[in-house]
Amino acid sequence: MPPLSIHGRSREVRDLFPYLEARCYLDTAAAGLAWQGHGAAVARFFDEVKDRGYDARPEWWAMIAKVRARLARWLGMEPEDVAFVSNTTEGLNLAAHSLRFARGERIVLAEDEFPSVARIWGPAAQAGAELVRVPIPREALRQQALMEAVDARTRLLVVSQTHSGTGTTVDLDALGRHCHERGALLMVDGIQALGAVPFTLEHVDIYASSFFKWMLSGFGIAMLVTSARAREAMTPAWHGYANMDEPHQLQYAHVNSPAIYGLDATLDLMESFGWEAIHAQVRDLGDRLLLAADGHGLDLVTPRAQRAGIFIFRAPDGEAARMRLAESGISVSARGQGVRVSPHFYNTAEDVDRCASALAQAIART
Ligand SMILES: Cc1ncc(COP(=O)(O)O)c(C=O)c1O
Repeated sequence: MPPLSIHGRSREVRDLFPYLEARCYLDTAAAGLAWQGHGAAVARFFDEVKDRGYDARPEWWAMIAKVRARLARWLGMEPEDVAFVSNTTEGLNLAAHSLRFARGERIVLAEDEFPSVARIWGPAAQAGAELVRVPIPREALRQQALMEAVDARTRLLVVSQTHSGTGTTVDLDALGRHCHERGALLMVDGIQALGAVPFTLEHVDIYASSFFKWMLSGFGIAMLVTSARAREAMTPAWHGYANMDEPHQLQYAHVNSPAIYGLDATLDLMESFGWEAIHAQVRDLGDRLLLAADGHGLDLVTPRAQRAGIFIFRAPDGEAARMRLAESGISVSARGQGVRVSPHFYNTAEDVDRCASALAQAIART
């Protein structure tokens, strides 16, 4: 087993996240912990920039352009592919309402998709598109079932990169290639994977994610990333002063600049640890959790070979088990068929060992 301390900086990690002194926090899939210093970075926008009103606009424009370019580089895209919106759900809605559909075209999605992925297709249905809800026979077959449902009439496959209720994580490259070979677009809700696992958007057409989970940032800021090919297929649903001159520009108004100042600082922090080290820590903590869970005979819903940072363990009463863990100082969520445990790079081997043992006891008592 690897040492499970990120570059030997475990003390620094604990200083950045003081809540971890008192709490075994394993609920990043609900909301990541903010780090000490994030608030100051957000405040910098008001105290050092906006205090000069509109005179300071070149500075916040420069910051927005900087963060847009950083995100694009990280994900293998171009800056013009990235628009800022308020949350994942807004990004998905904006894309879904902007795509032009013809009668008989199909939109493929899993039967149990997250509401923000499943409930946004009203205008497409009005245009005559058909929603194909694919049953998932087993978690390990989720990706295969979705791929098999993509046929010549499919215009778009839409999927959560990591499913919030099962933890199953799809391979974006494989799905994107499969869609493109059949003339379909791939659209992704990435919030439960971004920051937890490595990937690029090379084969993805539309991607939306907030930053408040694995990216540790606050609410009210998200990105909508679109390929040039996807934008060609869209007429922006919302219009304003910011997309007057470019027919396919989705950014329609001002964005959440304070949050972008915070996000820039968070990216600095994450990069100072190194994405490889962060992803390795998430993976190793997952391995460790599974080892401990196996030792306690816990029943895992998440497929071992297709996971990111979310692990769902079957429990007859997930909420009762969650409450028992909360009473003993451990934060998890009740989701899907049981309890969701989601360790991030700030957690330790002790955290996941403790959680597995407490969860086994809690389930035995329910
Ligand atoms: C898969 C998934 N999509 C979207 C959301 C919501 O994101 P937002 O509030 O940014 O729309 C969540 C959880 O909050 C989620 O788990």
